[in-house]
Formats: sequence, C-alpha cells, structure tokens
Amino acid sequence: MNTFEMFVSYSLLVASTLSLFTYWITKKFILKKMNRTIMKAEHNYQQQIASMQQQLSGKVGILEGMVEKLRLSNQELSRLNEIRSKFMSIVAHDLRQPLSSIQGFTSVLMMDNPQGGGNNDQIALNNIIKATDNMNLLMADLMDISMIESGKFKMDFKNFIFNALIADVVALQTVNAQKKGIFLVTYDYPTDICVYADRFRISQAINNLLGNSIKFAPQGGRVEVRYFVLGDKLRFCVSDNGPGISHGEKSKIFQKFHQADNDRNVKKQGWGLGLSIAQEIINAHNGIIGVESAGLGQGAYFWFEVPLSPSGKVSGKTPCEEAQANA
Ligand SMILES: Nc1ncnc2c1ncn2[C@@H]1O[C@H](COP(=O)(O)OP(=O)(O)OP(=O)(O)O)[C@@H](O)[C@H]1O
Ligand SMILES: [Mg+2]
Repeated sequence: MNTFEMFVSYSLLVASTLSLFTYWITKKFILKKMNRTIMKAEHNYQQQIASMQQQLSGKVGILEGMVEKLRLSNQELSRLNEIRSKFMSIVAHDLRQPLSSIQGFTSVLMMDNPQGGGNNDQIALNNIIKATDNMNLLMADLMDISMIESGKFKMDFKNFIFNALIADVVALQTVNAQKKGIFLVTYDYPTDICVYADRFRISQAINNLLGNSIKFAPQGGRVEVRYFVLGDKLRFCVSDNGPGISHGEKSKIFQKFHQADNDRNVKKQGWGLGLSIAQEIINAHNGIIGVESAGLGQGAYFWFEVPLSPSGKVSGKTPCEEAQANA
C-alpha cells in the first residue's frame, strides 16, 4: 500500500467516523429536541381542543335551554291565542243577545211614546239606538274575525249580476254621503257583468271600502265608484278626495286593528277591522285588493279584482242568464 492509498483509506475512515458522530449528535440532541417540541405542541393543541370542546358543550347546553324556553313560550302563546279567539267568539256571540234586547226595548219605548214624552227622552232613546247600532257593527266584525281565525269563514259562491249589487250598496251608502254633503258618483258599466262569488261577502267588502271613502272624504267632498271588466276579471274601484295614505301606511292599513295617523279627526271612528275583513273576503275569491294614493292630502283610490263567472253554459243557460233567473 503506497502513501496515497493509505491517505485515501485514512481519509475515508475519518469521514465515516465523522458522519457517524454527526448522526449520533443529531439523533441525540437535535431530533430529540424536535420531538419534544412537537410533543409539547401536540399537547398544547390537545389542551386547546379539550377546552374548546368544553366551551362548546357549555354553549350547546345554553342553546338547548333556550330552545326549550322557546318551545314553552310558543306553547304558552298558542294557549293564549286560543283563549283570545274563544274570548272574541264569546264576546261576539253572547253580547249580541242582550244587545238586541236593548234595541228591541228601546224601539218599543219609542213606539209607545212617539213624542218621547219630551225632547230629552227622544234624544236619549235615539242615542241608545245609535250606540247599540255601533256595537252591533263591532260585534259583526269581531264575529267575522273570529271565524277567519278559526278557519270557519266560508264563502257561498253563486252567479250574480254585479251591476245590481252595486246599485243596492250605493243606494244604502247614499244616505251616509248625503249627511256629509258628499257628491257620490257611480260610473255604471253599460252591460251586465256576471261574477261567481259570495254576494253578501262581496257587498260587505264594497260597503267597507265605500264606507271608508265617505267617512274619510271631507265635508262636501267627492267619492267616485267605478267597475269594469279587465281581461277575465271584474275590477271595482272607489276613489275619494280625503286625507290619503302615506307610502309607509299602505301595507299596514290592511292589518287587523291598524288605523293610520292620516287624519286625527276621523281616526277614532271605527276599530281598524273593515279593510282586514275586506282583504280576507277578496282573498277567499282568489282576487286581489289594493290601494293607491299619491300621499297625504292627495286622496285615496281603493280597488279589488275578482274572477268573472266562467264562460260556458250551466244547465242550458249562460252564468249570466242563470244569475238573472236567480235574481
Ligand atoms: N279612504 C280612505 N282614506 C284615507 N285613509 C283610509 C281610507 N280607508 C282606510 N283608511 C285608513 O286605513 C285604516 C284602516 O281602515 P279600516 O277600514 O280597516 O278601519 P276603520 O275604518 O278605521 O274602522 P272600521 O272599518 O273597523 O270601522 C283607517 O283607520 C284609515 O286610517
Ligand atoms: Mg273601515
């Protein structure tokens, strides 16, 4: 072995020893340290996860408590709602009887003594009749609301001529309009319009809308009634020159008991029920109801649409012929 070969062998030996030594050092100190760091980090994470799980389970517990509370208050709410509906129906049914007795006896007193035995008696009896009339209207509205809420608000559909119904309703409302010096104009449709609907309920909706316009129009104001055929629908509308309705109130006025703050003088006349009942009636006919108003002081325009009688013959007659025969 020459010197060079010896040098190479010696170098290889030194290099191998150095590598082994480096590997041993790395394993002993660096890798161990790294392992320890990793284990520590793992431990930390596990601790964090455990504490988060603890927090989460606490929150789940709170949430479960809240869900239970919500369930109980819902139960209580529906119980109270049931009581309220029952109460309304009791009020509406059971107060009607004594009320009509009061009206009956008052009428007898008025008939017994047409002069009223003096002006004051006559005025008092008239006031009793007026007050009981108002209470009767409220009872009727409350009964409708209670029927709507209990799902018993049923329609009695028949074919009838709408023009004749308008003539009847307007004739009744003309008396109220005249009391306020209101000019009530009806634009009659030139031909008979036949609808398949509940005549009584539709007249109730019209009475509500027309009654409102007369109530809200100013003394000596103007109210216009129109109705016409629009595609396969009948459109009824009533407009007035009253206080109008602000944009924000337009959807609210159809809610039960809601009265807009548009005219303080007439606000307290009524209970805010007429429009909600009218809406229920029109909805039950697959119709739509709405209001337009340019704003406060600009008057109001209320309208509804209901389907016309289906064309085609019913028992050998057209729906209109049948309606005329039924009239
Ligand atoms: N023609 C109208 N012009 C201006 N405001 C109206 C008109 N019609 C209805 N409103 C507003 O809508 C509200 C609700 O009307 P709705 O007919 O439901 O109740 P009401 O007339 O006040 O009382 P009720 O009909 O129970 O006797 C009214 O109080 C009024 O503020
Ligand atoms: Mg009304």
